[in-house]
Amino acid sequence: MMTVSDLPAQIESIRHFNRFYTRQIGVLEEGLLNSPYSLTEARIIYELAHHEQATATELANELKLDAGYLSRILRDFVKRGLIDKQPSETDGRQTVLSLTEAGQKAFALLNSRSRNQIEAMLNELSVADQNRLIESMHTIQSLLGSAPERSVPYLLRPHQPGDMGWVVERHGVLYNSDYGWDETFEGLVAEIVGAFIKHFDPKYERCWMAEMNGEIVGSVFVVKKTDEIAKLRLLIVDPKARGLGIGKRLVDECIRFARQKGYRKMTLWTNNVLLAARGIYKAAGFKLVEEEPHHSYGHDLVGETWEVEL
Ligand SMILES: CC(C)(COP(=O)(O)OP(=O)(O)OC[C@H]1O[C@@H](n2cnc3c(N)ncnc32)[C@H](O)[C@@H]1OP(=O)(O)O)[C@@H](O)C(=O)NCCC(=O)NCCS
Repeated sequence: MMTVSDLPAQIESIRHFNRFYTRQIGVLEEGLLNSPYSLTEARIIYELAHHEQATATELANELKLDAGYLSRILRDFVKRGLIDKQPSETDGRQTVLSLTEAGQKAFALLNSRSRNQIEAMLNELSVADQNRLIESMHTIQSLLGSAPERSVPYLLRPHQPGDMGWVVERHGVLYNSDYGWDETFEGLVAEIVGAFIKHFDPKYERCWMAEMNGEIVGSVFVVKKTDEIAKLRLLIVDPKARGLGIGKRLVDECIRFARQKGYRKMTLWTNNVLLAARGIYKAAGFKLVEEEPHHSYGHDLVGETWEVEL
C-alpha cells in the first residue's frame, strides 16, 4: 500500500479524468447538448427550474459564480425572453427571478436531451457496471464534500408528448382507489385533456407537470373559459409525492399565470370529498360560490364551484 502521496502523479490522474469526462458528456462543445446555451447558462436555467423563486445572490452562491458574470448572463436571458424579474414581496431591495414560458421550454428540452444522453451512456454498460459507475460517482462526491440535495427536489415544466396519458391514467387509478369512482371519470378526464390539446391556446392556457427524481408526480391545467375568466383543472399529485407542497405550488403557479395574462377571475369545479384540495384552494383565496348535488362516477356527490378574484 502506498503511504507517501505521489502528489504530482495524482494531480495528473485527476486532470486526465477531467479531460476525459468533460469530453464524454459533451460539455466542451459551444452549445450544450446541441442547444444555444453554454454549460453555465444551462446550469443557471436548471437552477431556476428547481427554485420556486430565486434571487441573483442565491444563484451566485449556489453556483459559485462571479456576480458580474452572472448578471451579464441574466441580462441576456431577459433580452431572450427566458426569465422574468420581479421585486421580492418580502424584501423590496431584492429581485426575484423566474423562468418564463420560453425559459421553461428551454429547460424541458435541455432536461430531456441530458437524460437521453446519460441513458445512452448507461445502455453501453451491464447492470453491474452501471452500479459500479454510480457507486464510484457517489464516492467522488462524498470525498469531495458534495452538498446534500436540496430539500424540495421537484420541478415544474410545461407539458410534452406522453404527459396527457399520465394525467388520464393517474386520475383513473387514484380516484378509483381513493374514492371508488368508476371508469366514467377516467373517460371524462380523457375528454378534458383531448379538448385541451385540440384547442390549446399557448398565450392564455398552460399545463404544468411536476417531476421528482425524473418521474412525473403531478399536474394542473389553466384553460380559458372567457376572456376574463380562467379555469383551473385536473390538479393531482401522486400519493408518493404528497405533503411536500407540490399541490400548493401548482395552484400558486396557476394564479400567478392567470394574473399575468390579465384574467379577472379564476374558477374551478371540485367535489366536497376532496378535502386536501379544498384546503389548498381556500388558503389560496378561493371562495365557495355554488354547491350542487349530482350522481356521477357511480356515487352521490356534491359538486362545488370555487372562485377567486385576481
Ligand atoms: C389535493 C392534492 C393535489 C394536494 O397535493 P399535495 O402536493 O399533497 O399538496 P401540498 O403538499 O401542497 O398541501 C397539502 C395540504 O393539504 C393538507 N391536507 C392533506 N390531507 C388533507 C385532508 N384530508 N384534509 C384537509 N387537509 C389535508 C395538508 O395538511 C397540507 O396543508 P398544509 O400545507 O397547510 O399543511 C393531492 O392530495 C391530490 O392529488 N388529491 C387527489 C386529487 C384531488 O383531489 N384533486 C383536486 C381536484 S379538484
